[in-house]
Amino acid sequence: MSLNLFQFKIYVISVILLIALNQSLVKGIGCGERPLELVRSSRIVGGKDAFIGEAPWQALVKEERFFGLWRYNKCGAVLISHNWVITAAHCNSGLFGSLQVIFGEHNLKSIETIASERGLVERSPVVRKAKRVVMHPKYNHLTLENDLALIELDSDVDYDQHIQPICLPEKGNDFIDSEAYVSGWGVLSYKERTLPPVLQIVKVPIMSNKKCEKMYRKAKHNLVARKTILCAGYAFGGKDSCEGDSGGPLAVREGPDARWTLAGIVSNGIKCAEPNLPGIYTRISEYDDWIVKTVTNSHSS
Ligand code: ARG
Repeated sequence: MSLNLFQFKIYVISVILLIALNQSLVKGIGCGERPLELVRSSRIVGGKDAFIGEAPWQALVKEERFFGLWRYNKCGAVLISHNWVITAAHCNSGLFGSLQVIFGEHNLKSIETIASERGLVERSPVVRKAKRVVMHPKYNHLTLENDLALIELDSDVDYDQHIQPICLPEKGNDFIDSEAYVSGWGVLSYKERTLPPVLQIVKVPIMSNKKCEKMYRKAKHNLVARKTILCAGYAFGGKDSCEGDSGGPLAVREGPDARWTLAGIVSNGIKCAEPNLPGIYTRISEYDDWIVKTVTNSHSS
């Protein structure tokens, strides 16, 4: 006798499930996804409030001095695994400071409520201490060359709808003409220095280093754009990262399965959002080997 309808349905469902499972295995490590993409609820200069979960890899770095008596928001950082974040080398603490890394933040002045199966639930940010800060060995604090550091966390963070790791780019990917998004809690304007409570995000295109040098020349500045940096911004200015955004992500949606990938880390610039002075980012695709080596070495120790 042939299958009855019920058995047939079960069969079709299991085949679909198997294909789905296989797909997720093929895609490998989970990264670069935004589970909260479809529940759009809800400076960077010229940006807008992010929606909750728009940059789930975004972390906030605080520096603590005098055993916690004095604490301030210092930089951004980016989650790449359960116990490592990437940030800028110039975000490291001074001699008597220590760093704290906070995940799942959105509005610094209030506690987030997010939708779940159980309705709206409150979520407090996840706080970790930096167990170890590994500066790039060739970081130069005068020229800001190799402005990159890895922070190992004192314990793992669990992934969640609004806490997710970003994907690392493939070696040699230059991201020229890609639409990229930079985010952070840095000042909304270089002059006024107002700080936003809500994470800001803004789209800035990545340009070639040649074009970037040309723009700087137009603005009467001399920039030697080494291949370890990348520039993102507009000839007319208006949108940019700014003070306090350093160490945060410049993310591009990329590849066959459109995963979010870390093209750059906010490093420096001249003022913010000025015409012909695009922001300067550490080019992550130049540091694959160092990142992988640093992160894997720690496991065996
Ligand atoms: N150095 C700044 C910081 O520590 C980031 C400056 C970025 N500037 C820019 N024009 N994109 O937060």
